[in-house]
Amino acid sequence: MSKHKRRLILAGLAITSIGLSITEPDLIFPTSQEAPARQAAQEANPAPWWKHAVIYEIYPRSFQDTNGDGIGDLQGISERLGYLQDLGVNAIWLSPIYPSPQVDFGYDISKYEAIDPMYGTMADFDNLLAEAQKHDIRVLMDMVLNHTSDQHPWFIESRSSRDNPKRDWYIWRDGKGPGISPNNWQSLFGHSAWQYDPSTQQWYYHKFYPQQPDLNWRNPEVRKAMYDVCRFWLDKGVGGFRLDAIETLFEDTRLRDEKILPGRNAYGDPNEDESRTVDLPEIHEVMRELRQVADSYPGDRVLVGETYTRTTHDLLSMYGLDGPELQLPMDTQVGFIDNKLDAGAFRQRISAAENDLDGHVPLFLFDNHDNPRSWDRYGDGMHNEAIAKILATVLLTTRSAALMYYGEEIGMVTTPPKTRAEVQDPIGKIGWPKEKGRDGERTPMQWDGSKDAGFSTTDHTWLPVAPNYPTINVQVESRNPGSLLTWYKALIALRRSHPALHLGSNIMVNATDPNMLSYLRKNPGNGPSVLVAMNFTAHLRIVSYDLKAQGIEGATGKALAQNGGVAKAVELSHVALPPFAVLVAEVQ
Ligand code: BGC
Repeated sequence: MSKHKRRLILAGLAITSIGLSITEPDLIFPTSQEAPARQAAQEANPAPWWKHAVIYEIYPRSFQDTNGDGIGDLQGISERLGYLQDLGVNAIWLSPIYPSPQVDFGYDISKYEAIDPMYGTMADFDNLLAEAQKHDIRVLMDMVLNHTSDQHPWFIESRSSRDNPKRDWYIWRDGKGPGISPNNWQSLFGHSAWQYDPSTQQWYYHKFYPQQPDLNWRNPEVRKAMYDVCRFWLDKGVGGFRLDAIETLFEDTRLRDEKILPGRNAYGDPNEDESRTVDLPEIHEVMRELRQVADSYPGDRVLVGETYTRTTHDLLSMYGLDGPELQLPMDTQVGFIDNKLDAGAFRQRISAAENDLDGHVPLFLFDNHDNPRSWDRYGDGMHNEAIAKILATVLLTTRSAALMYYGEEIGMVTTPPKTRAEVQDPIGKIGWPKEKGRDGERTPMQWDGSKDAGFSTTDHTWLPVAPNYPTINVQVESRNPGSLLTWYKALIALRRSHPALHLGSNIMVNATDPNMLSYLRKNPGNGPSVLVAMNFTAHLRIVSYDLKAQGIEGATGKALAQNGGVAKAVELSHVALPPFAVLVAEVQ
């Protein structure tokens, strides 16, 4: 893909104490037995659930297959809810499960109010929703608003004639001359963003594949139709949406060319600055309208945004400067910008989220279905597991909502196709060999050491299972107190139970140290605060903390979780952190 930051668009633990367990607030539709306990919890802690949420992205094709066709399904997700509850997640986001020709594996939708038979039926979906509620897990749908499939009835009508009532639902324009597209805009998936339609002799615009024509969001009928789609799912009781490609809804009406930047992308096209097709101001009005739709339902329905913003100010604008927009736009500055384990850069970006977002909760993430896995992007080849634990610590102990991707918790690796013939994701075919596509981060979930890693029973899973599955899998890691999975579980439990991690502010300490990332989660009440210290280097570091300036008198730290050989009790004036070690300690 053209730019990594928009690749998709493109690019031994010891737990000594987990503290008191508190009830997480509210289901959407509480049962009568659970309601009083939940109400009490809500009164004690009125913050909406998403402010502290751990959201877990499921790529349904790759999570759990129950019918032996090599592709995951809804029944499979239902069967794994116990695992997810045990892990401690509050919500799952399902990548698209709607009927689709699957050109972009579901991001090309041909019907919005139905389930693709490949994944099951609407009854399976209703069952998943009901079961998820029993497990205290909300279900978020992936909502693709920017485009439909070219097989959607709206587009079939739209392309049928120039005067069809749905013609204006998409972006149709005349070319500049025979065989010459309307302007220089490029698809994020390579080459021109315009496709010629010989029957009506006009071009249509597609930011992604030609099979994904962009909707015309300036047409009020389009808006109404898409808001009705959102209501359909909200009526069913989903917890909200992850808004796909929300930054690309509008394009310059004058069709001015994009500015050309130096260099070429992986497809061999000249780089463009995208200012005519991404982040146009009109997107904010739509996000405000979407928020009104979501807020018209009870139960704190949430809007998560796929926002690859370039600056903290751009990110701030996604929360809404003229009225509420998204509760949780993705903050990709921490997890995706340069993939370097650089303590200074992490500190600066976490601080920006803490100080420059007007008190909004950031949504941090390190992994998703569009980018190589963080295990490989941040790992140095020798200390990958320790580094993965550092990333998990940043994700789960800062004052942020956390977005995880299936398999991240067991350290799944990126397994790209070896030959062009093996590639499933079309961008890997278009861009081969520079761009190998996104198959590598979408391989089947590794549940155990049995055939197909417990994902399926067929000889042909849709993507091959990564070869390391006999040792890297949920079953093996669940039994190992030092595993990455145990670390994730412990930290998720801690962030739910420890008031300082749940509610405390986030203050950087020893903030000039280029080798360490250290911060204090300051207890908002009288209880103990939590110090988080991470060694970002391969060398032993001795650090001294003086927290008096933060109003903290305590001089000792008692480990709540530690990795890499740190002592369980430390004097804050002399903390020894071995290479890539992590200490999460209560200050006493
Ligand atoms: C999704 C991608 C998809 C693209 C087009 C992105 O935001 O995350 O997987 O290919 O939108 O829908």
